[in-house]
Amino acid sequence: MKVLVTGVKGQLGYDVVLECKKRNIEAIGVEIDEMDITDKAAVEKVITEAQVDAVIHCAAYTAVDAAEDNVDLCRRVNADGTKNIAEVCKRLDIKMMYFSTDYVFDGHGERPWQPEDERKPLNVYGQTKYEGELAVEELLQKYFILRISWVFGVNGKNFVKTMLRLGKEKGAVSVVNDQIGSPTYTADLARLVVDMIQTDKYGIYHATNEGFCSWYEFACEIFKQAGMMDVKVTPVDSTAFPVKALRPKNSRMSKDKLDANGFKRLPIWQDALQRYLKEIGCNEI
Ligand SMILES: NC(=O)c1ccc[n+]([C@@H]2O[C@H](COP(=O)([O-])OP(=O)(O)OC[C@H]3O[C@@H](n4cnc5c(N)ncnc54)[C@H](OP(=O)(O)O)[C@@H]3O)[C@@H](O)[C@H]2O)c1
Repeated sequence: MKVLVTGVKGQLGYDVVLECKKRNIEAIGVEIDEMDITDKAAVEKVITEAQVDAVIHCAAYTAVDAAEDNVDLCRRVNADGTKNIAEVCKRLDIKMMYFSTDYVFDGHGERPWQPEDERKPLNVYGQTKYEGELAVEELLQKYFILRISWVFGVNGKNFVKTMLRLGKEKGAVSVVNDQIGSPTYTADLARLVVDMIQTDKYGIYHATNEGFCSWYEFACEIFKQAGMMDVKVTPVDSTAFPVKALRPKNSRMSKDKLDANGFKRLPIWQDALQRYLKEIGCNEI
């Protein structure tokens, strides 16, 4: 099998290409300079010439708060860019995998979201990722949509790195305690991605590490595992932490569909964090 991976300079794209290489699957990773996904002609040319069996589409506009002020750019990348890719996949009759987010849900209640639940995004980023989902669903039959959340990987900025930096610089952090979800380690997710893309079990899935926590609990575990127990972590309500983009309070997502289709779930998030901290040279346990 041969795949093309967008967003290879991002967190997930980087690990997906690595995982393909480990399994002897030929993977062509492309970044924005090689294929700007908002450029329809470039997308058409690069994917066609690559002669691949599938596109694993990891590129996105991911700056959630900045998106509130950059609606056009965010939509061009997340919705139109995704549509550009889906159109080529349709013409070539190849598989496409698209990554979406817990932010397509409005966060009401406490029940874990099922893949088919109603989508009602609260912010611009979530809305444009939802529009990307619609483009894929409407154009293709051979597609996978994987909704993921709270992503951390070696290659890029994320919550874990931010906490470690703030802990070192300030010795104290305030972290929201009323948004509940699941962290997702890209190295773990990449294994599932490569398992899944080799099948024809198409559809919408939720895929995160196992277990639920609040951002506050996530931060406490980061400092505990990094041996930084002296950092003072204060739990706060989202209202005490004003940001531009509204976030869902309930980001719990059900992974039952993975079991139903014979896919292996990701490990529990604390275990993923431990391996990640070791990988970035920060684990003092
Ligand atoms: N990060 C999260 O917490 C999270 C949560 C839920 C879902 N997701 C989804 O998961 C996927 C992977 O996320 P990630 O964290 O790996 O993202 P990331 O680290 O931000 O990487 C995204 C990559 O896309 C590239 N990109 C941006 N605009 C592009 C364009 N017009 N053409 C081509 N490439 C472009 C970026 O390049 P530049 O850096 O040069 O802009 C970057 O390398 C995305 O679909 C994201 O929406 C992420």
